[in-house]
Amino acid sequence: MLRVHQQKDYKGMSCKVARLIAAQITMKPDCVLGLATGSTPIGAYEELVTKYNEEKLSFAAVTTVNLDEYRTLPPTHEQSYRYFMNDNLFRHVDVREAYTNVPNGLAEDTAAECARYDALIRGLGGIDLQLLGLGNNGHIGFNEPCDHFVLETNVVDLTESTIDANTRFFATKGDVPRQAITMGLGCIMEAKMVLVAVSGAGKADIVCRAFSGPVTPEVPASILQLHPNVVLVGDEAALAALTKTGITICR
Ligand code: F6R
Repeated sequence: MLRVHQQKDYKGMSCKVARLIAAQITMKPDCVLGLATGSTPIGAYEELVTKYNEEKLSFAAVTTVNLDEYRTLPPTHEQSYRYFMNDNLFRHVDVREAYTNVPNGLAEDTAAECARYDALIRGLGGIDLQLLGLGNNGHIGFNEPCDHFVLETNVVDLTESTIDANTRFFATKGDVPRQAITMGLGCIMEAKMVLVAVSGAGKADIVCRAFSGPVTPEVPASILQLHPNVVLVGDEAALAALTKTGITICR
């Protein structure tokens, strides 16, 4: 089941996403949060840091599992997703470092690393709330469009479109890693709740295709139409095309 929440702008979207994550932590302080990187969740992480500082929201019992990590980037690299998470959230709150998990992009035995990550998540009892951004091509995590849905944590070759989209974070396109390790769609679909955050006119078309188009691995996010508990939070610009389909929107 899908519930769509529309907010005016990026700030409103970020506040709503942070409120939902904070509610999850309040209801279950030792919850497992699946987290995302990218531009979209930065504002929500800022709001969570404010809630930690001003509302005593504690992450002390929380475990986190991130969606993905670039292959070949060490955690100290400013564009690694481990660095991003430390920089935008972890070092500002009381989460215990040992309880934060990001795939190891430096693993030499990638098959073993993928199997370890799936076993870790299932050993935790699965994910309570999975936060997702949405790629311009419909990817979630780094599960890129392909001819079948990939369920296990896997090594992906990033598509040209994703490399182009992420070039903005690197000095040159040639610096963008060509591969990543990503949580598969299985653990995402097994999460008790999936929270998708979208912002900006550039996402309007793919939001519409993902949530009101056919369920197809060519748009990996479309698999979320089969999930029993998805909350989509977007600003007006990102939801513009979906709104026109007549879908029920909570404002
Ligand atoms: C990030 C991730 C990606 C991003 C997506 C959207 O961990 O898994 O799927 O969520 O590429 O990125 P932004 O938010 O930068 O538009």
